[in-house]
Amino acid sequence: MSDNVRHKRVLITGCSSGFGLLTAVEAARAGYDVVATMRNLGKADYLRQALDQADATAAIKRLDVTDRDSIEAVAQEYRPVDILINNAGILTMGSFLDITDDEMRTVFETNYFGVVALTRAVVGGMIENGSGLVINIASLAGLIGHIFNAAYSASKHALVGFSKSIRQELKPFNINVVSVEPGYHKTEIIRANANVSENFYDQDSPMLQYNRGFLRLMRDEIIPRAGEAQDVVKIIMKIMAAEKPRAHYVIGKDARFATTMQWLGLTCALEKKIHTKLLAATRRESRRTEDRKAKRKKPPANQ
Ligand SMILES: NC(=O)c1ccc[n+]([C@@H]2O[C@H](COP(=O)([O-])OP(=O)(O)OC[C@H]3O[C@@H](n4cnc5c(N)ncnc54)[C@H](OP(=O)(O)O)[C@@H]3O)[C@@H](O)[C@H]2O)c1
Repeated sequence: MSDNVRHKRVLITGCSSGFGLLTAVEAARAGYDVVATMRNLGKADYLRQALDQADATAAIKRLDVTDRDSIEAVAQEYRPVDILINNAGILTMGSFLDITDDEMRTVFETNYFGVVALTRAVVGGMIENGSGLVINIASLAGLIGHIFNAAYSASKHALVGFSKSIRQELKPFNINVVSVEPGYHKTEIIRANANVSENFYDQDSPMLQYNRGFLRLMRDEIIPRAGEAQDVVKIIMKIMAAEKPRAHYVIGKDARFATTMQWLGLTCALEKKIHTKLLAATRRESRRTEDRKAKRKKPPANQ
């Protein structure tokens, strides 16, 4: 175990699945003192099993980033934390026209205000300690606009802006702040945890066919090409052990391609490509809907 790892306490949010669970296991296996948190301890068995299989241990605690009492309780119990990984996040898909204000606020409460609250609660101990590292799991959607994900994308842009700002504020205290910006990767956020807005299928919405087309695009092209979650975890582990981590880590082929296009001033070409794919997926989805309707109308062959 290297000196960079020994005794370092790592607090991670959202460890019931995905990057959070896998990072908790990898960090515990590497010898970090891991505090793995999740909002619903009823889901802790997956993490317990994964820790057992890795022959590793971690403290498992309840922490809901939208619940200030749970934030304070964990931050007090485990003060000082050396490395904070703000990983918890939610996704609610749907056009900005259809998503409700409450849904949009819920996304911000988790993806942005939750991070702010927990970082405030933890950073005091890092300042006393004279060092610290905050890793914010943002998203490619925090760097470029993301169709039918305005709420998520805006919350992640806010998170990227927050990271950039506090990185400078915390420098005098020897606290590093890193923003991680993955493209699509195979975790529950694009499977069981992928929510659609309550008005997603509103028959009166001018967006209905495009909302559905976007889902078809996700199913046919985006999810099958998503990267492996472990690729992100490897980079988080690298950041944790780095003496001088970078400010940003863009992860995944899709994310590197999109950010390069943006850097080259070719955002319009990127948007055009996405738009073309969306229209094609919308046509495919409309044809499938028509076919289903036609099949339902067709009388059985023996009549
Ligand atoms: N996978 C991707 O393609 C991708 C790409 C870019 C960025 N990200 C970001 O990566 C982070 C981790 O997501 P993931 O991909 O690993 O997806 P995931 O498997 O869905 O994990 C999300 C985790 O966040 C937790 N969570 C949600 N709301 C919470 C709250 N209020 N308090 C505490 N925990 C909460 C979830 O808990 P429950 O089980 O209780 O819901 C779950 O443990 C997120 O911030 C996400 O935005 C993911």
